[in-house]
Amino acid sequence: MKKTTAAITAVGGYVPDFVLSNKVLETMVDTNDEWITTRTGIKERRILKEENAGTSYMAIKAAEDLLRKRGIEASEIDFVLVATATPDMPVAATAAYVASEIGATNAFAYDLQAACSSFLYGMSTAASYIESGRYKKVLLIGADKMSSIIDYTDRTTCIIFGDGAGAVLFEPNEEGLGLQDEYLRSDGIGRQFLKIDAGGSILPASEETVKNKQHFVFQDGKSVFKFAVSNMADVSALIMERNNLTKDDVQWLAPHQANKRIIDATANRMGLEAEKVMMNIHRYGNTTSATLPLLLYDYEKQLKKGDNIIFAAFGGGFTWGSIYLKWAYNS
Ligand code: UT7
Repeated sequence: MKKTTAAITAVGGYVPDFVLSNKVLETMVDTNDEWITTRTGIKERRILKEENAGTSYMAIKAAEDLLRKRGIEASEIDFVLVATATPDMPVAATAAYVASEIGATNAFAYDLQAACSSFLYGMSTAASYIESGRYKKVLLIGADKMSSIIDYTDRTTCIIFGDGAGAVLFEPNEEGLGLQDEYLRSDGIGRQFLKIDAGGSILPASEETVKNKQHFVFQDGKSVFKFAVSNMADVSALIMERNNLTKDDVQWLAPHQANKRIIDATANRMGLEAEKVMMNIHRYGNTTSATLPLLLYDYEKQLKKGDNIIFAAFGGGFTWGSIYLKWAYNS
């Protein structure tokens, strides 16, 4: 019997209208466009300014865009998975709210949190539900309102992150297209280098934690950089090797958009030319769970059925990994 694979059959996206440029950041903290551009590759990022709007606001827009493009009803969706590090609320799954708002009345829904690897891990989860044969349409959304957890007086983090959302639909495929292989890793040593100290079960919110700014993202950038640069390159090379892929067999690298220098190092290790590397960090910064689907959203028209794509991510936790996927349609 032929194996059923899990293919991406549609993509949607959304970024807020408000653009926060490097020039404007120069007026907010002690930084400059030249430093940000050369150290990270970022020129601008989007910020969600709508009042009382959380991550679900963007997730819903990305999902609605996808449904429109795919031409299906939300009621056909079996499962909604929202990959996010910034849920609307600490308790009450954002995915459940998103599913109801888009009209996915026959779906169950939950969130997945693995920092910047959330979407990559979500691809594995979504594909597994399809491969099992139990579900036919799984909607995976990567969305983060990073501006809600960033201290805009801290120049080491506020220049990096942005807000956004992207969505993909996984469906069964009988032609062998879709997810081929994955290599996912984690290492708890990483939580000291990239974290939010307060608001969790170790250090609940208090007047003290607010005063000490412990609800914002803390990152030891240099340490995270060292781990990210070697691990993202390692897993990308490994997944090529164990699938007997040469550089000529790989049409695209879809890397997490945290730092252009990390992306370049990964591409170099794989032997890939710059034209094969999806990149939009200059426009959106690091949108955490939304980077990978927003790459697909921006590059969708260039992707051809059968293209071999290597996805790679690295994030807090630490969490990281790579996925090898064959693209399933021409748009
Ligand atoms: O997505 C999740 C995973 N996260 C990542 O992969 C992020 C990994 N880390 C990075 O991307 C980089 O470490 C950063 C972009 C965060 C920082 O770049 P860096 O090249 O590692 O800079 P650094 O932290 O070593 O700082 C170099 C210098 C320091 O000054 P001194 O000590 O050399 O005088 C910083 O104080 O740059 C200074 N600096 C800045 N200067 C201007 C730090 N932030 C800024 C800034 N503008 N925004």
